[in-house]
Amino acid sequence: MATDMTGKLAGKVALVTGGDGGLGSAMCRKFAAAGAAVAIGWYGKDPAHAEALAKEINDGGGRAITVQGNVASPEDVQKDVQQVVDQLGGVHIVVNNAGFESEHAFLEMPPEAWSAVIAVNLTGPFLVAQTAAKWMAANNTGGVIINISSVHDVIPWSHYSHYCAAKAGLSMLTKCMAVALAENKIRAVTVCPGAIATPINQNVWGDPALSKLLDAKIPWGRIGQPEEVANVVVFLASPDAEYINGSQIYVDGAMVQYADFQHGAV
Ligand code: BGC
Repeated sequence: MATDMTGKLAGKVALVTGGDGGLGSAMCRKFAAAGAAVAIGWYGKDPAHAEALAKEINDGGGRAITVQGNVASPEDVQKDVQQVVDQLGGVHIVVNNAGFESEHAFLEMPPEAWSAVIAVNLTGPFLVAQTAAKWMAANNTGGVIINISSVHDVIPWSHYSHYCAAKAGLSMLTKCMAVALAENKIRAVTVCPGAIATPINQNVWGDPALSKLLDAKIPWGRIGQPEEVANVVVFLASPDAEYINGSQIYVDGAMVQYADFQHGAV
């Protein structure tokens, strides 16, 4: 996807946490295509996906860097935001996209699994948003923070109570940020994907029987694609969305209106 330097996001810098993942890489590509410079946040041992994506964007005439760090670590977040500012000249768009889930029946949920999911899915977005917003406020640039929540901010999912609690918290955190940061012209919005075909849930959509069960919970009748979420994220980051603040957009084929998640893993 070639970069359009006259695009709607020309001159802007976007940091996408989990930018090397299923949803994140689609967002990074679309940000670059709209003219933004992109910081691809990643964490773990394998830089291959993040580096290949940065190369693809840079080869296409865009600008991308990779930034490694744990969103749940205040020190890492401080270092990462500083790196983005130093290398790309600022930070105007933040997408809190990094997240993970693990399956545990409620009675068997180990406290460590609870804490790990809350740390990455809720505390991380707070740290990244606060650190970036401090830079935006100090430099009077304005900006936008997009939190990637889930249909599970309102749909209970019995084997994922930590994940649901984190996402519910994240959606509320967005609303508080929207109110708190409006005077600095920093917007905050929530995007709630439904079931999207990414590695996080490949165990389900990759399995014909489970995938059929999943499709039956989605009124639109199919799983979503990462690009369908990325399109909305890029729109929300653009000047066209200037008056959208504190809102929550479900990108889910109406799954949230309908789903029965009382039991099980799907
Ligand atoms: C989860 C997916 C799940 C989807 C719908 C998402 O938040 O990450 O694993 O398929 O919600 O249940």
